[in-house]
Amino acid sequence: MRLLVTGGAGFIGSEFVRYWLKNHNQDNIINLDNLTYAGNLDNLTNIEKFPNYQFIKGDICDAKTVNNAMKGIDIVVHFAAESHVDRSILEPSKFIQTNILGTAILLESALQHKVKRFHHISTDEVFGSLDLNSSTKFNEETPYNPKSPYSASKASSDMLVRAYYHTFGLPITISNCSNNYGPYQFPEKLIPLMIINAIQGKPLPVYGDGLNVRDWIYTEDHIKAIELILEKGAIGETYCVGGESEIANVDVVKKILSILNKEEKLINYVKDRLGHDRRYAISNHKISTKLGFKPAHNFESGIKSTIAWYQNNRPWWERVLKGDYQKYYASQYEK
Ligand code: NAD
Ligand code: TYD
Repeated sequence: MRLLVTGGAGFIGSEFVRYWLKNHNQDNIINLDNLTYAGNLDNLTNIEKFPNYQFIKGDICDAKTVNNAMKGIDIVVHFAAESHVDRSILEPSKFIQTNILGTAILLESALQHKVKRFHHISTDEVFGSLDLNSSTKFNEETPYNPKSPYSASKASSDMLVRAYYHTFGLPITISNCSNNYGPYQFPEKLIPLMIINAIQGKPLPVYGDGLNVRDWIYTEDHIKAIELILEKGAIGETYCVGGESEIANVDVVKKILSILNKEEKLINYVKDRLGHDRRYAISNHKISTKLGFKPAHNFESGIKSTIAWYQNNRPWWERVLKGDYQKYYASQYEK
C-alpha cells in the first residue's frame, strides 16, 4: 500500500509515521508537510533514510503540490492542521486556511485520484463543552457545537469530509480523538509545557481556576485506534477515541510536579483562556465494541514515560524552544 500522510512531521503524525514503518514495513509512506512552527524533522531522524519513506515539503492548500503527491496513493491519512486553541484565538485566519481549505483541496484531489480510503483525523473539541458536574460523554451522535476558532475549523473540515462521502462516494472514515500527550509534543500544549517549565524551575501557568477537565490519551494508543479503523473500520463511519482518563488541569500539573519532585508553589494561576471549554469527555463504546479498541496506557504509566522522555531528550526541546517560539511564549504568558 502507498500511504499519503499529511502533517507527518508534527506530534501525532510523526508518531504515526514511525509506528507504521515499524509495523507495516511493506508499505510506502509519503509524508506531505510544509513544516510550520509545529513541524519538526527531528521527530523523524531514525526513519528518514528508509527506502519506503519519502518526505515532501509542501502545503496542503496548494492544489498542484497535493495532486503531485496524490499520484498512486491508496490511503490518505490526514493529520495536517493548525492545532493549538490559543493560537486560533490570536490568529483564526490560518486555521480557516489550513484546516478548512487545505482539507477541501485534499478531498478533491483524493476523489480525482480514486484513493481507496481517506482517513480524517479530528478532535472531540468539535462537540463543544460539557458541564463539570455531569457524567455525560461525547459520542458519535452528539451534535456538533464547536466554540473556538480551532474547533470550528475542525468541525467544518469534518463536514466537508462527510459531504465528499455522501455526495461523491469518496471512501472516508473519521476519528474524533481526545487530548493526546506523549513524546515529541510541541511545548505549547499543557503537558509538555508544564514538564519543561518544571524541569527548568519556571512558573507553571494554569488558566483560570485550573478545574477544566480533559480526557488524556497516550499518543501511541491514538495511533493504534487509527490502525484499527484503517484495517477494520466501516466506510463512511465516524469513530470517537478517548483515553478513559478524565483529569482536571491542576491535578495534571500537580502529578507532573510530584513525579519531578518539585514544589507546588511553582503553580501560577493566570488569566483564563477566552471561551475556555470546561470539560471534554468521550465515549469509547463504539470503537471498543465494533473494533476491539482499548487504550493500553493509563494516565499514571503514560505520564511517567512522557516525563522520562522529556528528561532524556533535552536537546530536542532546547532546539524547539529557540527562535520563534520565544516570541509566542512572551506574547502568551509575559504580557
Ligand atoms: P501539530 O501541530 O503537532 O502538527 C501539525 C503538523 O501539520 C505539523 O507538522 C505542521 O507542519 C503540519 N501542517 C500545518 N499546516 C500545514 C499545511 N498547510 N500544509 C502541510 N502541513 C501542514 O498537531 P498534532 O497535535 O500532531 O495534531 C495532528 C492532528 O490531530 C490535527 O489534525 C489535530 O486537529 C488532531 N488532533 C490533535 C489532538 C491533540 O491533542 N494534539 C487531539 C485530537 C485530534
Ligand atoms: P491544551 O493542551 O492547549 O489543549 P486543548 O485546549 O486543546 O484542550 O490545553 C489543555 C488544557 O490546559 C486546557 O483546559 C487549557 C489548559 N492550559 C493551561 O491551564 N495552561 C496552559 O499554559 C495551557 C497551554 C493550557
